[in-house]
Amino acid sequence: MTKKILITGSNGLLGQKLVYRFLNEPDFSIIATSKGANRLKVEKGYMFEPLDITDAAAVSAIITKYAPDIVINTAAMTDVDGCESKPDECHKLNVEAVQNLINALKKLKNNPQLIHLSTDFIFDGKSGPYRETDIPYPPKSIYAESKFVSEKEVKASGLRWTIIRTVLVYGVVDNMSRSNIVLVAKNNLAKGRQMNVVDDQYRTPTLAEDLAEGCALATIKDATGIYHISGKDFMSILELFYKVADFWKLDKSLIKPVDTATLAQPAQRPLKTGFILDKARQELGYNPHSFTEGLQIVDNQLNGE
Ligand SMILES: NC(=O)c1ccc[n+]([C@@H]2O[C@H](COP(=O)([O-])OP(=O)(O)OC[C@H]3O[C@@H](n4cnc5c(N)ncnc54)[C@H](OP(=O)(O)O)[C@@H]3O)[C@@H](O)[C@H]2O)c1
Repeated sequence: MTKKILITGSNGLLGQKLVYRFLNEPDFSIIATSKGANRLKVEKGYMFEPLDITDAAAVSAIITKYAPDIVINTAAMTDVDGCESKPDECHKLNVEAVQNLINALKKLKNNPQLIHLSTDFIFDGKSGPYRETDIPYPPKSIYAESKFVSEKEVKASGLRWTIIRTVLVYGVVDNMSRSNIVLVAKNNLAKGRQMNVVDDQYRTPTLAEDLAEGCALATIKDATGIYHISGKDFMSILELFYKVADFWKLDKSLIKPVDTATLAQPAQRPLKTGFILDKARQELGYNPHSFTEGLQIVDNQLNGE
């Protein structure tokens, strides 16, 4: 029987990749939802409904209308520094809106599953890379705190739930509203702009297609609980920039290493995160690309292939 899957934030980096990923799955019908008009180039093979998840009545109406078997909640305020300057907006979208989804789903009779996206930033960054069993505390920013609280809401929801945490996602999407680290590095270096880049923050950067694949595997395998889904290569942000420069043959001398204290970003970042992927590999068969393979995929997409 076909399962109905509703995706929130379908215009976003992960949201778009998820819609395209599930178009290949005949056993799922897709209801893509996002704030504002649909920005995907492909408009066939799924339904689209505009949905602002901070609007409780609208969430209730759409969830009641479609009675989805699965909701994947990718919508979030993901601008970490923006969350610091607009904490109320952040709380509304990253915390209250999650409760809107939970309240609406709890009224359904079909035992729906909520798959919620979370972040490596819920960890303090003292001992990464992290496993699912590591203790996520204390979050170092308003964004991190909001995602930490949203995880608690999801766990306490009484629904069948899955939390998928991820790390520093990059990729190319249709009609992008926000850039991401790989494209920022590539574009600035290509324009000859000097960049201060942190050498003491470590991550396992994630190709958006890999994250979508991890979410799809969890959905198809009916997996519940927490999963860490990221890239497999652990590196500093500085190394990431050097790899981007090498790949596209750009001028590495534009990259100025600095430490986190010197950069003084508005929101504090955990220093060393990244994920250990054993659980996702063993239980889901998750097998991400290397970072270099990811850059090649991005390059192909930028060239329209
Ligand atoms: N990106 C990362 O590096 C990263 C790292 C760790 C965890 N995550 C988590 O992964 C998830 C997906 O991230 P992403 O990179 O795909 O984020 P994204 O590209 O910022 O996408 C989020 C989408 O949500 C939409 N949206 C904003 N407000 C909304 C609202 N009120 N109702 C419905 N939709 C709304 C946005 O619409 P507009 O495009 O119109 O603004 C955007 O398309 C998030 O939960 C994030 O916290 C991301």
